[in-house]
Amino acid sequence: MRKLAAGNWKMNGLKADGIALAKDLAARAARDALGCELLVCPPATLLAPIAEALASSSIALGGQNCHGEPKGAHTGEISATMLKDAGCAYVILGHSERRAEQGESDAVVCAKIEAARGAGLSAILCVGETLAQRDAGQALDVVARQLEASLPKGLDPSEIAVAYEPVWAIGTGRTPTPLQIAEVHAHIRTCLGGLVRDPGNTRILYGGSVKPDNAQALMSVANVDGALVGGASLVAADFWAIAKACA
Ligand code: PGA
Repeated sequence: MRKLAAGNWKMNGLKADGIALAKDLAARAARDALGCELLVCPPATLLAPIAEALASSSIALGGQNCHGEPKGAHTGEISATMLKDAGCAYVILGHSERRAEQGESDAVVCAKIEAARGAGLSAILCVGETLAQRDAGQALDVVARQLEASLPKGLDPSEIAVAYEPVWAIGTGRTPTPLQIAEVHAHIRTCLGGLVRDPGNTRILYGGSVKPDNAQALMSVANVDGALVGGASLVAADFWAIAKACA
Protein backbone atom coordinates (compact mmCIF):
# COMPACT_ATOMS: atom_id res chain seq x y z
CA MET A 1 0.00 0.00 0.00
CA ARG A 2 1.34 3.46 -0.91
CA LYS A 3 1.53 5.66 2.16
CA LEU A 4 -0.16 9.05 2.28
CA ALA A 5 1.35 12.22 3.73
CA ALA A 6 -1.53 14.65 4.22
CA GLY A 7 -1.15 18.27 5.31
CA ASN A 8 -4.04 19.86 7.17
CA TRP A 9 -3.47 23.61 7.06
CA LYS A 10 -6.51 24.30 9.24
CA MET A 11 -7.40 28.01 9.39
CA ASN A 12 -3.97 29.16 8.28
CA GLY A 13 -2.71 30.76 5.11
CA LEU A 14 -3.43 33.78 2.96
CA LYS A 15 -2.97 33.87 -0.80
CA ALA A 16 0.70 34.82 -0.91
CA ASP A 17 2.05 32.38 1.69
CA GLY A 18 -0.33 29.56 0.74
CA ILE A 19 0.62 29.69 -2.93
CA ALA A 20 4.32 29.99 -2.06
CA LEU A 21 4.07 26.90 0.16
CA ALA A 22 2.25 24.90 -2.53
CA LYS A 23 4.79 25.93 -5.17
CA ASP A 24 7.69 25.05 -2.91
CA LEU A 25 6.23 21.56 -2.38
CA ALA A 26 5.51 21.16 -6.10
CA ALA A 27 9.13 22.06 -6.92
CA ARG A 28 10.41 19.50 -4.41
CA ALA A 29 8.05 16.85 -5.82
CA ALA A 30 9.27 17.58 -9.35
CA ARG A 31 12.92 17.17 -8.29
CA ASP A 32 12.50 14.12 -6.12
CA ALA A 33 9.70 11.64 -6.83
CA LEU A 34 8.69 10.16 -3.50
CA GLY A 35 7.33 6.68 -3.02
CA CYS A 36 4.32 8.06 -1.18
CA GLU A 37 1.30 10.13 -2.06
CA LEU A 38 1.23 13.80 -1.06
CA LEU A 39 -1.87 15.77 -0.19
CA VAL A 40 -2.44 19.35 0.95
CA CYS A 41 -5.70 20.54 2.49
CA PRO A 42 -5.72 24.34 2.52
CA PRO A 43 -8.57 26.56 3.72
CA ALA A 44 -11.49 26.79 1.27
CA THR A 45 -10.57 30.30 0.10
CA LEU A 46 -7.26 28.98 -1.24
CA LEU A 47 -8.49 25.86 -3.02
CA ALA A 48 -8.73 27.48 -6.45
CA PRO A 49 -5.34 29.25 -6.49
CA ILE A 50 -3.63 26.22 -4.98
CA ALA A 51 -5.24 23.89 -7.49
CA GLU A 52 -3.64 26.12 -10.09
CA ALA A 53 -0.25 26.13 -8.33
CA LEU A 54 -0.31 22.31 -8.16
CA ALA A 55 -1.77 21.76 -11.63
CA SER A 56 1.27 20.13 -13.18
CA SER A 57 2.43 18.38 -10.00
CA SER A 58 1.65 15.00 -8.49
CA ILE A 59 0.44 16.58 -5.23
CA ALA A 60 -3.26 16.10 -4.51
CA LEU A 61 -5.64 18.70 -3.12
CA GLY A 62 -8.23 18.21 -0.40
CA GLY A 63 -10.86 20.09 1.58
CA GLN A 64 -11.10 20.20 5.38
CA ASN A 65 -14.85 19.70 5.60
CA CYS A 66 -18.00 19.41 3.48
CA HIS A 67 -21.75 19.42 4.04
CA GLY A 68 -23.83 16.24 4.01
CA GLU A 69 -26.23 17.61 1.38
CA PRO A 70 -25.28 18.13 -2.26
CA LYS A 71 -26.65 21.72 -2.41
CA GLY A 72 -29.26 24.07 -1.04
CA ALA A 73 -30.03 26.57 1.70
CA HIS A 74 -27.01 26.04 3.98
CA THR A 75 -25.41 29.44 4.40
CA GLY A 76 -21.67 29.30 4.83
CA GLU A 77 -21.36 25.64 3.90
CA ILE A 78 -19.50 23.91 1.06
CA SER A 79 -20.68 20.75 -0.69
CA ALA A 80 -18.56 17.78 -1.65
CA THR A 81 -19.36 18.48 -5.30
CA MET A 82 -18.01 22.03 -4.89
CA LEU A 83 -14.77 20.63 -3.50
CA LYS A 84 -14.53 18.24 -6.42
CA ASP A 85 -15.25 21.10 -8.81
CA ALA A 86 -12.43 23.13 -7.20
CA GLY A 87 -9.96 20.34 -7.96
CA CYS A 88 -10.08 18.29 -4.75
CA ALA A 89 -9.61 14.55 -4.64
CA TYR A 90 -9.89 14.26 -0.83
CA VAL A 91 -11.76 15.72 2.10
CA ILE A 92 -10.92 15.50 5.81
CA LEU A 93 -14.06 14.69 7.82
CA GLY A 94 -14.84 14.40 11.51
CA HIS A 95 -11.71 16.19 12.69
CA SER A 96 -11.78 16.50 16.49
CA GLU A 97 -11.67 20.29 16.23
CA ARG A 98 -14.91 20.20 14.24
CA ARG A 99 -16.45 17.62 16.56
CA ALA A 100 -15.63 19.92 19.51
CA GLU A 101 -16.18 23.38 18.00
CA GLN A 102 -19.06 22.65 15.61
CA GLY A 103 -20.57 19.81 17.63
CA GLU A 104 -20.32 17.33 14.76
CA SER A 105 -21.75 13.97 15.76
CA ASP A 106 -20.85 10.59 14.29
CA ALA A 107 -24.18 10.62 12.42
CA VAL A 108 -23.37 13.99 10.84
CA VAL A 109 -19.90 12.76 9.91
CA CYS A 110 -21.46 9.64 8.37
CA ALA A 111 -23.72 11.77 6.15
CA LYS A 112 -20.70 13.82 5.09
CA ILE A 113 -18.75 10.71 4.13
CA GLU A 114 -21.73 9.56 2.03
CA ALA A 115 -21.80 12.95 0.34
CA ALA A 116 -18.06 12.78 -0.34
CA ARG A 117 -18.45 9.33 -1.83
CA GLY A 118 -21.29 10.55 -4.02
CA ALA A 119 -19.12 13.37 -5.33
CA GLY A 120 -16.19 11.07 -6.07
CA LEU A 121 -14.02 12.33 -3.22
CA SER A 122 -11.95 10.15 -0.97
CA ALA A 123 -12.75 10.86 2.69
CA ILE A 124 -10.22 10.91 5.53
CA LEU A 125 -12.21 10.06 8.65
CA CYS A 126 -10.60 11.28 11.88
CA VAL A 127 -11.12 9.35 15.11
CA GLY A 128 -9.40 9.47 18.46
CA GLU A 129 -9.86 9.62 22.21
CA THR A 130 -9.51 12.52 24.64
CA LEU A 131 -6.94 12.41 27.43
CA ALA A 132 -9.65 11.63 29.99
CA GLN A 133 -10.83 8.72 27.86
CA ARG A 134 -7.28 7.40 27.48
CA ASP A 135 -6.65 7.70 31.22
CA ALA A 136 -9.88 5.81 31.85
CA GLY A 137 -8.67 2.97 29.61
CA GLN A 138 -11.34 3.69 26.99
CA ALA A 139 -9.22 4.55 23.93
CA LEU A 140 -9.95 1.37 21.98
CA ASP A 141 -13.68 1.47 22.75
CA VAL A 142 -14.00 5.13 21.78
CA VAL A 143 -12.29 4.58 18.45
CA ALA A 144 -14.37 1.47 17.72
CA ARG A 145 -17.59 3.35 18.49
CA GLN A 146 -16.61 6.27 16.25
CA LEU A 147 -15.78 3.94 13.37
CA GLU A 148 -18.98 1.95 13.75
CA ALA A 149 -21.20 5.05 13.91
CA SER A 150 -19.53 7.23 11.30
CA LEU A 151 -18.57 4.84 8.51
CA PRO A 152 -21.17 4.12 5.86
CA LYS A 153 -21.06 0.40 5.08
CA GLY A 154 -19.16 -1.06 2.15
CA LEU A 155 -16.64 1.66 1.26
CA ASP A 156 -13.63 0.58 -0.74
CA PRO A 157 -10.03 1.73 -0.20
CA SER A 158 -10.27 4.44 -2.87
CA GLU A 159 -13.16 6.02 -0.95
CA ILE A 160 -11.88 6.08 2.62
CA ALA A 161 -8.84 6.41 4.85
CA VAL A 162 -9.00 6.54 8.64
CA ALA A 163 -6.80 8.91 10.64
CA TYR A 164 -6.14 8.00 14.26
CA GLU A 165 -5.69 11.34 15.98
CA PRO A 166 -5.66 11.23 19.78
CA VAL A 167 -7.17 14.58 20.78
CA TRP A 168 -4.49 15.08 23.43
CA ALA A 169 -1.70 14.76 20.83
CA ILE A 170 -3.02 17.41 18.44
CA GLY A 171 -0.96 20.58 18.53
CA THR A 172 0.53 19.67 21.90
CA GLY A 173 3.91 18.23 20.99
CA ARG A 174 2.92 15.04 22.82
CA THR A 175 2.55 11.76 20.97
CA PRO A 176 1.52 8.28 22.06
CA THR A 177 4.30 5.72 22.33
CA PRO A 178 4.89 3.48 19.30
CA LEU A 179 3.36 0.66 21.33
CA GLN A 180 0.18 2.64 22.01
CA ILE A 181 -0.10 3.60 18.33
CA ALA A 182 0.46 0.00 17.24
CA GLU A 183 -2.29 -1.16 19.60
CA VAL A 184 -4.87 1.35 18.34
CA HIS A 185 -3.98 0.91 14.65
CA ALA A 186 -4.25 -2.88 14.92
CA HIS A 187 -7.60 -2.43 16.64
CA ILE A 188 -8.78 -0.07 13.87
CA ARG A 189 -7.73 -2.63 11.26
CA THR A 190 -9.76 -5.29 13.05
CA CYS A 191 -12.81 -3.02 13.40
CA LEU A 192 -12.61 -2.14 9.70
CA GLY A 193 -13.08 -5.84 9.00
CA GLY A 194 -16.82 -5.57 9.53
CA LEU A 195 -17.22 -2.13 8.01
CA VAL A 196 -15.31 -1.67 4.74
CA ARG A 197 -14.80 -3.79 1.65
CA ASP A 198 -11.06 -4.34 1.82
CA PRO A 199 -9.77 -3.61 5.35
CA GLY A 200 -6.25 -4.82 4.60
CA ASN A 201 -5.84 -2.18 1.90
CA THR A 202 -7.60 0.67 3.68
CA ARG A 203 -5.12 3.30 4.79
CA ILE A 204 -4.86 4.10 8.49
CA LEU A 205 -2.98 7.35 9.08
CA TYR A 206 -1.55 8.60 12.34
CA GLY A 207 -2.02 12.28 13.23
CA GLY A 208 -1.10 14.42 16.24
CA SER A 209 2.20 16.31 16.63
CA VAL A 210 3.93 14.55 13.73
CA LYS A 211 7.22 16.42 13.22
CA PRO A 212 10.35 15.84 11.15
CA ASP A 213 12.19 14.48 14.19
CA ASN A 214 9.58 11.88 15.18
CA ALA A 215 8.16 11.00 11.75
CA GLN A 216 10.54 8.12 11.07
CA ALA A 217 9.68 6.42 14.35
CA LEU A 218 5.93 7.00 13.97
CA MET A 219 5.79 5.91 10.33
CA SER A 220 7.58 2.65 10.98
CA VAL A 221 4.95 1.43 13.45
CA ALA A 222 2.91 -1.55 12.16
CA ASN A 223 -0.37 -0.60 10.45
CA VAL A 224 0.60 3.07 10.08
CA ASP A 225 -0.04 3.87 6.43
CA GLY A 226 0.78 7.56 6.48
CA ALA A 227 0.46 10.78 8.43
CA LEU A 228 -2.07 13.56 8.88
CA VAL A 229 0.03 16.59 9.71
CA GLY A 230 -1.17 19.92 11.09
CA GLY A 231 1.38 22.49 12.26
CA ALA A 232 4.39 20.97 10.52
CA SER A 233 2.58 20.97 7.16
CA LEU A 234 2.78 24.78 7.09
CA VAL A 235 6.56 24.68 6.62
CA ALA A 236 7.59 23.17 3.28
CA ALA A 237 10.88 21.71 4.53
CA ASP A 238 9.20 20.11 7.55
CA PHE A 239 6.31 18.62 5.58
CA TRP A 240 8.77 17.36 3.01
CA ALA A 241 10.90 15.69 5.68
CA ILE A 242 7.77 13.97 7.04
CA ALA A 243 6.78 12.87 3.54
CA LYS A 244 10.25 11.39 3.10
CA ALA A 245 9.82 9.47 6.34
CA CYS A 246 6.48 8.16 5.00
CA ALA A 247 8.09 7.09 1.74
P1 PGA B 1 -0.79 18.76 14.57
O1 PGA B 1 -2.30 18.57 14.03
O2 PGA B 1 0.11 18.05 13.62
O3 PGA B 1 -0.57 20.24 14.58
O4 PGA B 1 -0.76 18.15 15.94
C1 PGA B 1 -2.72 17.37 13.47
C2 PGA B 1 -4.16 17.45 13.04
O5 PGA B 1 -4.96 18.07 13.74
O6 PGA B 1 -4.54 16.91 11.97
